[in-house]
Amino acid sequence: MTPVNLVLMGMGNVGRAFIHLVGEKSGLCRERYGLNLCLKAVLKTNGGFFAGRPLDPGDIAGLPASELAKHPAWKPGLHLDDVLKSVNPGVLVECTPTNLHTGQPGLSHITRALKKKWHVAAASKGALVVNFKGLNAFARKQGVSLKYSGAAAAALPTLDVGLFSLAGTEILRIEGILTGVTNYILTRMEESFSFQEALKEAQAKGIAEPDPSLDVDGWDSAAKILLIANSVAGMSFSLKDIRREGIRNVTPEDIQKAGKEGKSLKLLARFDRRKDEPKAEVCLTAIENTHPLFSVSGTNKGIVFFTDTMGQVTVTGGKSDPRGTAAALLKDIINIYRQEWSPCL
Ligand SMILES: NC(=O)c1ccc[n+]([C@@H]2O[C@H](COP(=O)([O-])OP(=O)(O)OC[C@H]3O[C@@H](n4cnc5c(N)ncnc54)[C@H](OP(=O)(O)O)[C@@H]3O)[C@@H](O)[C@H]2O)c1
Repeated sequence: MTPVNLVLMGMGNVGRAFIHLVGEKSGLCRERYGLNLCLKAVLKTNGGFFAGRPLDPGDIAGLPASELAKHPAWKPGLHLDDVLKSVNPGVLVECTPTNLHTGQPGLSHITRALKKKWHVAAASKGALVVNFKGLNAFARKQGVSLKYSGAAAAALPTLDVGLFSLAGTEILRIEGILTGVTNYILTRMEESFSFQEALKEAQAKGIAEPDPSLDVDGWDSAAKILLIANSVAGMSFSLKDIRREGIRNVTPEDIQKAGKEGKSLKLLARFDRRKDEPKAEVCLTAIENTHPLFSVSGTNKGIVFFTDTMGQVTVTGGKSDPRGTAAALLKDIINIYRQEWSPCL
């Protein structure tokens, strides 16, 4: 049995879902993969849970915010360095807010963890968008893994397919519906909602954030296509290289026009390496009913890889919610430690 020490940064929607999942899946991880998940610490902005011994996920995952500080393992002002210096390396799980311009606070957490030879599994995108090459090179130098499925469309497998299943191909082009929120809003607009009505509904259901700009202005899709193209096609895109369009100005007339032509309006993230200058962009596109992403609706996502030897490969689905994101983090952790790829007999 391999012990896997886990330190979780952030206990918001994703962090809490991850703690729940560790509790739920620890038996499966032991039996199927020989991994003993040990949640050693959970940190928030003002302190964290740390007791030296593994925390009981069932004990803290459901605690209301007002009860956290009453828990015996709660340490006010707990800092990541306090934890990293007293726990044997395992995986730092990064679930703090995304800032696509500074990369913080994730950038500092990931750098500190790599310095101490911890593996990293990230759901936050900022650090990788801001310093993709630097962080990946540093992880390699330290001999540890830096995984970020959670940041690259989470429960929709994108990086794993590109890096593992399509090994040996040239990925010539990628098209993706990578943001569940914008796809949900466009789907509701096809059902006669206005943009504002659809957005309001998405916010009421907890699908869209109170400040939806990262999603509706196309930043989220731009960050994801950057991470995917840089990872699977060896590109060096920065955010400023990616032409970006959002969905704020989509009108019911735009939706109807596409519908009358038998098309569907989607926010597509694209990468194309076939021209002289590879490019990545996020743009509203009316796609034909023969397109593999035509029927990807609601919060579903999808990605199509166009390759030189395996033809066109499409993946669709994946839960666009905190539990799906937590599951993508857990998948990365399992794959960091997995020794072999034999069937689960
Ligand atoms: N929500 C999704 O379905 C989803 C999907 C894919 C990726 N993501 C990414 O996952 C990340 C987390 O999302 P979320 O929805 O869980 O966010 P959230 O609900 O806002 O939670 C963020 C958490 O991070 C903590 N935090 C902030 N700064 C910190 C610091 N310096 N040190 C330690 N903890 C800190 C906050 O602590 P306090 O409670 O003390 O403020 C809070 O617990 C984001 O980067 C997001 O882009 C989310």
